[in-house]
Amino acid sequence: MAIRNLRLEGDEILKKKSREVETIDEKIQILIDDMIETMHKYNGVGLAAVQVGVLKRVIVIDLYDDKGPIVMINPIIIKTKGEHEMDEGCLSFPNQFAKVMRPEEVVAEYTDRNGKRMRVKAKELLAQAISHEVDHLNGEVFMDKIIPGTLEYIEPEE
Ligand code: NI
Repeated sequence: MAIRNLRLEGDEILKKKSREVETIDEKIQILIDDMIETMHKYNGVGLAAVQVGVLKRVIVIDLYDDKGPIVMINPIIIKTKGEHEMDEGCLSFPNQFAKVMRPEEVVAEYTDRNGKRMRVKAKELLAQAISHEVDHLNGEVFMDKIIPGTLEYIEPEE
């Protein structure tokens, strides 16, 4: 496993649409492991492949609960319910936080790393994370949809 370089604010790749994964091969498995390691290294709750420079529809999420890291390949949001303001940040926008409107619930379908198609009904943080990461796969970043006047810069504590 390896830590990959994060693509940061201003990098044009973040605006590009990622392509579907057709075969879950060794290269994808290594990408997934590296993405999880990179997300953990920077204490993120989610990461999309585009953020490490790979335009493939792969996301990883870890809410640091008993579920452990969740890997979603070719995720699609098939239903959303409700909307609320959530505090949000992104590993591609270090130290910047803002409020964003996100669905309260999402139903998503995805393929897991073993090739099995799954369906999840997510609420709160998980719904927010899925919504944020699927946006990345479509070339959208949270900064484009923040609620005006809510942006804050917070330096990390030593
Ligand atoms: Ni992000």
